[in-house]
Amino acid sequence: MRRTKITVVGAGNVGASVAAYASAAELGDVVLVDIIDGVPQGKGLDLFETTPVLGVDTKIIGTGDYEETRGSDLVVITAGIARKPGMSRDDLLATNVKIVGEVAQKAAAASPDAIMIIISNPLDAMVYTAWKKSGFSPRRVLGMAGVLDTARFRSFIAMELGVSVEDIHALVLGGHGDTMVPLTRYCSVGGIPVSALIPSGRLDQIVQRTRDGGAEIVGLLKTGSAYYAPAASAVQMAASILRDKKRVLPAAAYLDGEYGQRDIFVGVPAVLGALGVERVLELELTAEEKAAFERSVNAVRGLMADVDKLL
Ligand code: NAI
Ligand code: 2OP
Repeated sequence: MRRTKITVVGAGNVGASVAAYASAAELGDVVLVDIIDGVPQGKGLDLFETTPVLGVDTKIIGTGDYEETRGSDLVVITAGIARKPGMSRDDLLATNVKIVGEVAQKAAAASPDAIMIIISNPLDAMVYTAWKKSGFSPRRVLGMAGVLDTARFRSFIAMELGVSVEDIHALVLGGHGDTMVPLTRYCSVGGIPVSALIPSGRLDQIVQRTRDGGAEIVGLLKTGSAYYAPAASAVQMAASILRDKKRVLPAAAYLDGEYGQRDIFVGVPAVLGALGVERVLELELTAEEKAAFERSVNAVRGLMADVDKLL
């Protein structure tokens, strides 16, 4: 039987963590790619040496050569620079558009049938970049942000109520930036609407902490941005795709008329399966939610225009 193969481009904090979680979950063999000679090879070998301890049967290698990635089922792109204190995700665009464009093109040439999950920031604009440079159908290119943003929202609500994170369901729409739209109306705790358990003023503070969740970690780390939760989020999406689970997860997906939008990648609830984004689920939004989503869409469109100038 053919073994599943996953390429992770960028062997930095997020990429190495994706490789570690994917291997621990036995999602497939992992090829870690980076431009710094020795880093992917060293991290790849170190990670492979975890497998006897974990009792998992995955092969992990590191390389700078895309030939080794040939025939991958899934490509995860984490290459690029990360935020430092004082930087927004959007400040990364000019540097990362070149990196993500180049690596998406090379990875797609080696694995023309793969599904591509983008993590590099600014997320929605980098998904657009990878789509353009890969030549893939839009359903096979998607971005990780919503799973992370909802995980933050769920964590903060669990902390607030002193209950299990498992019982909290939440949804965040829109771009991965300051304009993201946490939908409190669709947030529940063991099936109970969160508004019945947390007063609205306090809930607003939790929403704001979610929006600032990335910056909170950057402020604490000082040398870079979050990586454990982002990597775990991407691996959850990868599992749904590689195991054709058809989970409903928020993803930066291509809209072709859904939510009244076309030709844009932005965060929406999606069914993730063997074909990639198999369906975008549309929700009724209130006038206020719709306006917030449109503000977020406009911010993403602005970044896409910047990408078009640079590609
Ligand atoms: P990092 O600096 O630890 O790792 C980035 C890696 O990319 C480095 O090892 C670097 O050598 C490599 N790289 C640069 N150019 C490359 C190229 N042309 N080919 C192959 N590799 C190349 O950064 P970290 O923390 O891993 O973050 C990676 C990206 O993910 C950043 O853009 C960050 O903003 C983004 N991110 C996005 C999140 C999201 O929710 N979508 C969450 C966390 C991070
Ligand atoms: C985050 O939200 C930096 O986008 C990254 O942690």
